[in-house]
Amino acid sequence: MAQQRKKSGGKASKPAASTPVVYVLNGPNLNMLGLRQPEIYGRDTLADVEKLCQAAARRLGLAIVFRQSNHEGELVDWIQEARSHADGIVINAGAYTHTSVALLDALNAAEKPVIEVHLSNIFRRESFRHHSYISLAAKGVICGLGPKGYVLALEALADLA
Ligand code: DQA
Repeated sequence: MAQQRKKSGGKASKPAASTPVVYVLNGPNLNMLGLRQPEIYGRDTLADVEKLCQAAARRLGLAIVFRQSNHEGELVDWIQEARSHADGIVINAGAYTHTSVALLDALNAAEKPVIEVHLSNIFRRESFRHHSYISLAAKGVICGLGPKGYVLALEALADLA
């Protein structure tokens, strides 16, 4: 069982040593939620999504580390960190979903259950969004349900933990 470690990316109340830790990682442009194409991504901001995740985590007895980066290498660093500090990973890799072998390699190396999340239904969109590299490392994929997808992903990991 990983112990939670606090790092950049927000205050987390200290969980009991046995509390499972889930890294919730968000990729490029997700910091623009609420402003960015609301007809596709909705009006909720990333802070709203984080609040929803924190409430779900409390209910499920999980501790979460919620982060966003526009930089592929930083996401790789966080996934590597999750290998020793987390029990599971929820990831919305944004556009890197469709391009990044580096994220796939990092997720495979993490050896943790991974749930891939997308706010939009990527299969109702442009064909280049239909392929995900990171799905090869994911236990499950949730898309098209908006922020609720993150909550469902946390529920799935709570069952696995
Ligand atoms: C997304 C879908 C991706 O295709 C897109 O590049 C994003 C967001 C989603 O949450 O629907 O940035 O991951």
